[in-house]
Amino acid sequence: MAERLTDRGFEVVEADSGEKALELLEQFAFDIVITDLRMPGVDGGGVIEVARQRYPGIVAIVITGYGTVKDAVDAIKRGASDFIAKPFQFDELMHVLQKALEQRRLSSENAYLRAQLEERYQFGGILGRSRPMQALFHLLDTVARSSSTIIITGETGTGKEVVARAIHHNSPRRANRFVALNCSAIPETLLEAELFGHVRGAFTGAVGTRQGRFEQAHKGTLFLDEVGTMSPSLQMKLLRALQEREFERIGDNQTIKVDVRVIAATNSELAKMVGEGTFREDLYYRLNVIPIQLPPLRDRRDDIPLLVKHFLEKFAPGTTMHVSQSAMRGLMAYTWPGNVRQLENAIERAVALSAGREEIDVADLPPEVQATPQPTSTPFVDFPDDGLNLPGYLASIERDLIHRALERTRGNRNRAADLLRIKRTTLVEKLKRIGPDR
Ligand SMILES: Nc1ncnc2c1ncn2[C@@H]1O[C@H](COP(=O)(O)OP(=O)(O)OP(=O)(O)O)[C@@H](O)[C@H]1O
Ligand SMILES: [Mg+2]
Repeated sequence: MAERLTDRGFEVVEADSGEKALELLEQFAFDIVITDLRMPGVDGGGVIEVARQRYPGIVAIVITGYGTVKDAVDAIKRGASDFIAKPFQFDELMHVLQKALEQRRLSSENAYLRAQLEERYQFGGILGRSRPMQALFHLLDTVARSSSTIIITGETGTGKEVVARAIHHNSPRRANRFVALNCSAIPETLLEAELFGHVRGAFTGAVGTRQGRFEQAHKGTLFLDEVGTMSPSLQMKLLRALQEREFERIGDNQTIKVDVRVIAATNSELAKMVGEGTFREDLYYRLNVIPIQLPPLRDRRDDIPLLVKHFLEKFAPGTTMHVSQSAMRGLMAYTWPGNVRQLENAIERAVALSAGREEIDVADLPPEVQATPQPTSTPFVDFPDDGLNLPGYLASIERDLIHRALERTRGNRNRAADLLRIKRTTLVEKLKRIGPDR
């Protein structure tokens, strides 16, 4: 067998026992293992189990004695790809082998395609398949490589913070810190100390010397959230820190130099604030080197099914939970003023309310989502990327509705035809085409 396989172009290594086979498997990543089942010492099942563990993609063929089909079934359970019974022709072995190799090729291709697909729909944990999000991923990929200042704008819950983190984690600075500071969460008087640090006795309560966030973020990224809420005097200090990359701790006159990339975020309209005189124009231009605008969720509804799936996996891991057609229609129709965060909360709530049911229905959705009038009553179809077969798809809907009409009328064709607003003869014709039942 080894000789004939070699003739066919395989590179063959032989082992005269299970133990020897395990030893060889340690040393080399074989593509295929062919083994007898009953052997003294480590038997064929044992060999396969170890081979599979070490190389999940390995093709394992078992050769069994005549009449021991049960053994063969056990071997399959332990990970064998296929088996052949003794005595056998060499061609039989070749056939089984080729089939298994083809299967392996397909499954690894699938895994590759799947990984690629998942890759395509996300950037560092930000999910999106809509056009605006795909364009955003492209932009993020480019700007992550630079050290330019970035300002992210977008309504609440659109993902400003996830985007800032994704930029950092895809930048050359990823080995250093990502330091976040929410400027609106800290009282004005303390914000300056948070940013630049202070020395002992700089103000009442400054008991020791402290590093500010700028220093902590040295060689990394500083994320300034809600930057629009800063006071004019602090805006000026921030401007200097951005321009000169230097500052002093409060109460100290020693200048500290840092290498920090700044990413700012805001959900207020800075340009308008500049017009109104509440935000410094020079700071605005300093921050606005690379503006990134996150679109609200209602302008990228194509992302909703993907996000729903993601949040279902998050809140109901390891289950087959899904959203009913009408619930999905409701989710697609709603305007989501709180954007992705609101959708995330809605799914978390629905999972809790579903109490173990497999399917989330309209009643599990928040009242405001339920209250949204839905534009149409057509089923929601998540349009696959590689398209779909329209006639086949429509036929399957037709078949389904006809069967459901017949179910409802307990097989009464006259009444089913009425329900479907078609003539009885048309119904009979259609039934002939699609078969009497599922
Ligand atoms: N594209 C996305 N893919 C996956 N999760 C997302 C996406 N966008 C937002 N999220 C999730 O939604 C939530 C809100 O995101 P984030 O905190 O980044 O929003 P934000 O724009 O900073 O909101 P706010 O202005 O209220 O601070 C987070 O839990 C985040 O993980
Ligand atoms: Mg935020």
